[in-house]
Amino acid sequence: MLRVGIIGCGDIANLNVMGYLHSQDTEIVAVSDTDIKKARDKLEQWGLRTIKIYPNYREMVNREDLDIVEILTPHHLHGPMTEYCAKAGVRGISVQKPMAHTLTDCEKMIRVCEDEKVKLKVYENFRFYPVYLRAKELLNNGIIGDLTNFRINSINAGGPSMPRDLKSIGWRRKFDICGGGPWVYDDGIHKFSMALWLMGQDRVEKVYSWIDYFSAVWDGPSYILWQYPSRYVDKAPRFGIFEITIAPNLYYPTNYYVCDEYIEISGTKGLMWINQCTCGGNFISKSPQFPPIIVYTNGEVNTYGNDLPRDWRYSFINSTEHFIEVIKSGGEPLYNGEQGKNLSIFAKMAHISDQQKRDVFWEEMTSENELNRSCLVEEPKEINGAVLHKYFSRIRKDFKKGIQAGLIHKELKYDKDLLLE
Ligand SMILES: NC(=O)c1ccc[n+]([C@@H]2O[C@H](COP(=O)([O-])OP(=O)(O)OC[C@H]3O[C@@H](n4cnc5c(N)ncnc54)[C@H](O)[C@@H]3O)[C@@H](O)[C@H]2O)c1
Repeated sequence: MLRVGIIGCGDIANLNVMGYLHSQDTEIVAVSDTDIKKARDKLEQWGLRTIKIYPNYREMVNREDLDIVEILTPHHLHGPMTEYCAKAGVRGISVQKPMAHTLTDCEKMIRVCEDEKVKLKVYENFRFYPVYLRAKELLNNGIIGDLTNFRINSINAGGPSMPRDLKSIGWRRKFDICGGGPWVYDDGIHKFSMALWLMGQDRVEKVYSWIDYFSAVWDGPSYILWQYPSRYVDKAPRFGIFEITIAPNLYYPTNYYVCDEYIEISGTKGLMWINQCTCGGNFISKSPQFPPIIVYTNGEVNTYGNDLPRDWRYSFINSTEHFIEVIKSGGEPLYNGEQGKNLSIFAKMAHISDQQKRDVFWEEMTSENELNRSCLVEEPKEINGAVLHKYFSRIRKDFKKGIQAGLIHKELKYDKDLLLE
């Protein structure tokens, strides 16, 4: 039985633990959180009331002889925590995306895990979402020919959604902790991951972006454009775009984060649309107008993936199961350290382009240029975090107005039972 320790019992821990709670090969033996009460509440919720809580993660690692550690903390802690666990002899470290707040820390993490022969996984769960896995299979089979363009619209709507811890939102707006903005660098990692993986690329050539700061809080609406490397001179250049849409007044019920994704991929023989990920399974998924995958090719329109589970939690369960298998039987984690660092590079390119109002090239994004500040993501000076509560109270007010005007409001609470199904 593999012994698992969790560092950080915040919002995402609920989803990260699911794969372990389902597994016959692992046992969660301890958790660490500086907030003991929060950790205790989580253990109660997960049905693990009796296991030990450590306020200091180092003590947990020293005492518990762990095979696997899950690092689920703010981004500036990912590097030091990975280093400590690797040097203490933990053989499998899974760190939530983004890999770290700086490229310098990403590189240190790769180095220490190589030196200590540790399997390092950067946990990007969209890569394991059943609908995306099916889409990738279809694309690999050439259903729309050679891929030319990628577009993802990431919509941040009004809810209702799972309750959030305000502290969890607070640290994300500090660029020196987060590494960038909450929509571009934090949540955006998933979208950059899809832009590379679905298109069969491991990097882009250059990025240009426009990032606004709605209510001086969120790093959106935003438009981030890029060019993929061109391998053949006789082929048209290939581009991609990531749109961050802010729609706080949009009624959009979900059990998870109130953010959803719509992807469109063009190919030389056809077009593919992929509907939803984070809010998969909500009202929209149940409508016939939004099947998981639509393909147009050769004068015909077909849908795919109607047989698949659309609930987002399966991306977490699959991702954790994959890592358990790697630790049990060997192989390379998805994503490994280099791949995880590439996602951080891509996301940081968007911020640098907006900061410096220019095309940013992949080669520029090095730890050296981070240290000499030519490619250092900095917090925009005009951000005023004090308006955050105004933003939320406006959402609530608009929502109330909607209900008075006849909007059918069905409160969706985070469903604990989902965890143990
Ligand atoms: N894959 C996804 O879809 C997804 C979604 C949300 C968050 N995340 C990632 O998960 C990670 C955690 O995010 P979150 O939303 O759960 O944050 P959170 O703020 O809700 O939780 C972080 C937890 O870490 C604890 N913590 C802080 N310092 C600590 C320390 N020194 N030792 C032990 N515990 C400590 C905090 O008390 C808190 O409980 C981040 O990397 C984030 O980007 C991923």
